[in-house]
Amino acid sequence: MKGVILAGGLGSRLMPCTKVTNKHLLPVYDKPMIYYPILTLVNAGIEDILIVTGGNHAGEFLRLLGNGKEFGLKDISYTFQEGEGGIADALKLAEHFAKDEKVFVILGDNIVEDNVKEHVDDFKKQPYGAKVFLKEVPDPERFGVAVIEDGKLVSIEEKPENPKSNLAVCGLYMYDNEVFEIAKHLKPSSRGELEITDVNNEYIKRGCMSYSILKGWWTDAGTFESLFRASCLVAEKCKKENN
Ligand code: G1P
Repeated sequence: MKGVILAGGLGSRLMPCTKVTNKHLLPVYDKPMIYYPILTLVNAGIEDILIVTGGNHAGEFLRLLGNGKEFGLKDISYTFQEGEGGIADALKLAEHFAKDEKVFVILGDNIVEDNVKEHVDDFKKQPYGAKVFLKEVPDPERFGVAVIEDGKLVSIEEKPENPKSNLAVCGLYMYDNEVFEIAKHLKPSSRGELEITDVNNEYIKRGCMSYSILKGWWTDAGTFESLFRASCLVAEKCKKENN
């Protein structure tokens, strides 16, 4: 399985910090944000990684990460998203890299406590389809929200005003190779972007979407509040590990 980290965007919710750098290069406690999704993939046994970036500071990723030696990787692949077409649009750029393999897609500002290796291993056995991660949150209206009926994931609603559950869809997704065909047929949402939630709903419609609920904490880091929270959670984890 291949790993794809989506690290584009203008980071407008973090202005002025993102005026002279990419959001994913900002610090979360003691490391640049992009280190965390890389470590999530590497710790899950995924060593073939593509970083999709964009905007004005794309070259900085190469300066920071180089060939990935620091993470024990043989190399890192990079590509560039033109414009602001959304997560599913960025994902399209990974088709060539993925070849015929399954992909683990992670948003560059998502940080998880758990090692997700067991879920990756489960998905490798899933013959086809996709798998998402869910986590209970106090503010589901900020995220894609899972609608569960009789234990079954029946749909995902993107940033609903009245969420039907407190289970957010985390920015970590596993897909078979069909994802690229699905992404090609998407229509832009009201915010003018190709939405990852539309990709996931298509898999649900086809009856081949599974899900796992994360045990440990999960956070995004794309707003000042969540960036601060992410630093605090990582700091606590580091302290626990060092004791
Ligand atoms: C995106 C997805 C949303 C998901 C979230 C996780 O939202 O659209 O479904 O729950 O990432 O971080 P964004 O942060 O791009 O608005």
